Amino acid sequence: MVCIRPAVMEDLLAMQRCNLLCLPENYQLKYYFYHILSWPQLLYVAEDYNGKIVGYVLAKMEEEAAETHGHITSLAVARTHRKLGLATKLMQSAHKGMAEVFDAVYASLHVRVSNQGAFHLYTRTLGYEISDTEPYYYADGEDAYDMRKQLKPKTPLADSPPAGKASKEKRQPERADATKDKEQQARSDVQKGSPSSGDASDAPETPKKADSTPPARAKGEGSGGSSGTPPGSATPKKGRGGRGKS
Ligand SMILES: CC(C)(COP(=O)(O)OP(=O)(O)OC[C@H]1O[C@@H](n2cnc3c(N)ncnc32)[C@H](O)[C@@H]1OP(=O)(O)O)[C@@H](O)C(=O)NCCC(=O)NCCS
Repeated sequence: MVCIRPAVMEDLLAMQRCNLLCLPENYQLKYYFYHILSWPQLLYVAEDYNGKIVGYVLAKMEEEAAETHGHITSLAVARTHRKLGLATKLMQSAHKGMAEVFDAVYASLHVRVSNQGAFHLYTRTLGYEISDTEPYYYADGEDAYDMRKQLKPKTPLADSPPAGKASKEKRQPERADATKDKEQQARSDVQKGSPSSGDASDAPETPKKADSTPPARAKGEGSGGSSGTPPGSATPKKGRGGRGKS
């Protein structure tokens, strides 16, 4: 028997462990802290009858975007517990938090174009649609689908007047880049080191201000990130690498 419940501070190490076992895109522990301190209603875990964490979803809000929306930073379920509907339930819980607590209009995420299992989950089961394709999004050069799921009906404003629409369209790519840069930055730290580099003790002494304007984008950085540079995240990786996913 496995239960889905909101994550608490004590779960973060186990979430990080599950992430390290399941995905090549990893994060320092402080990035998990950043999420739970900022958006505690958007982190869920799947816990088995022994108290072991066998899955998690790590999500956040993009509050500076043209339209307030949630973003799935990371999702994984242990191999031993896949195809049981756990990821579906974790995602639905995060969506509910985004819509009910934060009034999110939609949820977004990035997924590798080759990740058929996750793509099936997102499109067929959860109703996400491809919004864009981001070339070379991941550290190994793979492209990502930028996907979205509407959580609330579109407002007339979102569809109509050319003027309003134009200004919105102008802003969105900028915000999308901000998201990408920050998540990729967060990942690049961990990718450069061993899993132990995910320890909070690795945090730079002068953490970047959360929710600030992202730094100028360095090539090869960034990822499916969020609003706000995570405190103490990221030494940007040089070159085309340094990308993560989510
Ligand atoms: C992707 C992942 C989270 C799915 O977790 P899960 O708990 O097995 O997913 P669910 O049981 O909720 O399955 C939901 C749907 O996706 C389908 N699905 C899951 N894995 C699949 C696979 N490998 N191939 C095809 N379909 C798959 C299920 O059949 C189910 O479809 P249905 O609703 O039509 O019955 C899990 O495989 C995983 O952790 N993978 C590695 C990490 C990862 O890729 N994370 C996502 C990064 S964007």
